[in-house]
Amino acid sequence: MERFKVNFQVNGEPVELDVRPSETLLETLRDRLELTGAKEGCGLGACGSCTVLLDGLPTRSCIVLTAEVDGSEVTTIEGLAEGEKLDPVQESFMEKGAVQCGFCTPGMILTARSLLDRNPRPTREDIIRSISSNVCRCTGYKKIVEAVEAVSSTETPET
Ligand code: FES
Ligand code: FES
Repeated sequence: MERFKVNFQVNGEPVELDVRPSETLLETLRDRLELTGAKEGCGLGACGSCTVLLDGLPTRSCIVLTAEVDGSEVTTIEGLAEGEKLDPVQESFMEKGAVQCGFCTPGMILTARSLLDRNPRPTREDIIRSISSNVCRCTGYKKIVEAVEAVSSTETPET
């Protein structure tokens, strides 16, 4: 079977793999790299539970082929904390009770992290828009929005 050699970075580490043409980034992350934070929900690009950052932007890893990410930087939820120190978005989700079953949480947090990196002072509408295609069946979204707002009010924008 035809295979492609792919080189990319995952959480700052170089990765070189031979992949099937049909192998999705979600399969690669979960099944080959043992990074199981990204979850498979719909498998169709609709729910956001498989969200990772691809060159800093939220991306549904279930509908991206690994062969397409050659040369890119992938960040998963496992790469967000620095050692024992959680990212402020992770801490805020826990403090605000924005995590219940946790299935949507990695995708929500990465989506929020990307928004705050690009727009350190988002309005409530900006936050709602950015997470609007990430499905959460537990929280009703209110606490998630509050958690992102709390980070926005404390992080100092880079100049
Ligand atoms: S599992 Fe990828 S968007 Fe639902
Ligand atoms: S916390 Fe359960 S789906 Fe969001």
